[in-house]
Amino acid sequence: MCGIVGIIGKVEAAPLLVEGLRRLEYRGYDSAGIATLVDGQIERRRAEGKLANLEALLKTRPVGGLIGIGHTRWATHGVPNERNAHPHATKRVAVVHNGIIENFHELKAELSAKGQVFESDTDTEAVAQLIDYHLAQGMGAEDATAKALERLQGAFALGIVFAGRPDMMIAARQGSPLAIGYGAGEMYLGSDALALAPLTQKIAYLNDGDWAVLTAETVVIRDRTGATVTREVRQTQFSGAMIGKGEHRHFMLKEIFEQPEVVSNALNTMLNPADRTITLPRLPFDLAAVKRVRIIACGTSFYAGSVAKYWIEKLARLPVEVDIASEFRYRCPPMEADGLAIFISQSGETADTLAALRYCREHGQHTLSLVNVPESTIARESEAALLTMAGPEIGVASTKAFTTQLTVLACLAIGMGRATGALSAEAEADICRSLSEIPARIAEVLRRDDDIRVIAQGIAEARDVLYLGRGTGYPIALEGALKLKEISYIHAEAYAAGELKHGPIALIDDSVPVIVICPTDELYEKTASNVQEVVARGGRVVFFSDREGIDRLSAKVFSSMALPSVDPVVAPILYAIPVQLLAYHVAVAKGTDVDQPRNLAKSVTVE
Ligand code: F6R
Repeated sequence: MCGIVGIIGKVEAAPLLVEGLRRLEYRGYDSAGIATLVDGQIERRRAEGKLANLEALLKTRPVGGLIGIGHTRWATHGVPNERNAHPHATKRVAVVHNGIIENFHELKAELSAKGQVFESDTDTEAVAQLIDYHLAQGMGAEDATAKALERLQGAFALGIVFAGRPDMMIAARQGSPLAIGYGAGEMYLGSDALALAPLTQKIAYLNDGDWAVLTAETVVIRDRTGATVTREVRQTQFSGAMIGKGEHRHFMLKEIFEQPEVVSNALNTMLNPADRTITLPRLPFDLAAVKRVRIIACGTSFYAGSVAKYWIEKLARLPVEVDIASEFRYRCPPMEADGLAIFISQSGETADTLAALRYCREHGQHTLSLVNVPESTIARESEAALLTMAGPEIGVASTKAFTTQLTVLACLAIGMGRATGALSAEAEADICRSLSEIPARIAEVLRRDDDIRVIAQGIAEARDVLYLGRGTGYPIALEGALKLKEISYIHAEAYAAGELKHGPIALIDDSVPVIVICPTDELYEKTASNVQEVVARGGRVVFFSDREGIDRLSAKVFSSMALPSVDPVVAPILYAIPVQLLAYHVAVAKGTDVDQPRNLAKSVTVE
């Protein structure tokens, strides 16, 4: 949430700041702003709403300067308006911030009593005012910042520029991600490597407690004790080319259509097609010794973990608990030593998942993360990381990240099954064959896009939608409902089909579409009889199954779609596709902002 960027260099900063913000807009789009130094004075331009509004403002009121900071906001404290937009500034200092300053009330009261005048409702302004106060007492920029940092509680990634100091800027990190970019005669800071990719591929990530002084030529990093430290400079894999939508109308659609390719990329990291085996990367712990598994994640990643629970229990015969990170972290559960804790996160920066990871590490668990961003904090802080290989996901609603997570989790479950001895070589070969065919099966479903668009027209007018599934179809139902909610704003809920009679069946009438995920597996008949119950009560069932499943169904459903017939183990990867497309076409029919739905941000770096 919130993206920050900073540049100190030799060319006009404003256009580069805007370019960096464009690549960070997925982190929030409530407002955007920049501050530069012009003749030593702080100049700001800020606009409510998306970056396009700031760009329009910069056309009418351009701003010069070779040093500057920029921000795209996901509002936490204070409504999204221009007054609350970053950078927050006084005459002496300007600050951009990602995170939450938890003690800002206390700081605000204290500083107001000392005569500092606040003008916004944000927590961030307390940082600017605190530094300003120390500067006013005669401290230099570095000392004033160091003293202010001692007082800040909560999470922050900060970019700070000072009036009269065009030669330097300061970056600081506690809890929120922050990267330093190394250029030739220029230095940069950014919330992630993607933002800096057009400027440099040489990146160093600050650790928690670090703060850095950047000049055009140098970077000096200090840790929380004030000691000078070095942080590894890596070559990022991100390309500087702006990620485009190709021939597609939205990033989400483009990313849905990329799935055959990215799922195949994910498979290629572990699946040996010739001998139909899985080779997991070398792990720093022994999978054969694992006695219990806990999977922790948020949102869509949590649903991927929920599918993996079925897989690992079935294939490796290990007990698995799945937890929502925000619940897990405050429950402080007892944990027996030597368990394996798996963390799933597209961004690798989700605050709750990161906190859960730290808890598990402190409690003697082996930690393994599945991330899409290799340099992310969760990847760096886990004992081992598996990469999902989806490539940058720009649409706020996760699609290809989900199916690649599932793909890697399926491989992991097979690897664990082999390690525990629960899975035979023959069974491994069978599942590997099905997995290797899954990209082609996904492509077949994508060719049915038009059919799904037609089904979506019948749902766009609904006020409520129910999703049902059993077994691994249940998390897919949950994911389908989440997709629909977040991009079409239609209320949707998912239930394990067996739960229907325990309450939700009361909701059924002819105005409630019921989307059913029902591959022909060992639970097919049970779900089919739930469909009968819904149809008997006038429910409008949309039935996703395979040819055999549709032919066997005696209930008269509103519409159905035959997906390719696949091994039930890999079915959840395939059945994710129609629920993504359905949500997409409903949202398009309703005219919502598909790629940047209201109130959401892609990377949830505050809790
Ligand atoms: C939904 C969605 C979110 C994320 C969740 C976790 O489409 O994208 O629910 O899955 O915020 O994010 P990561 O995976 O980055 O930890």
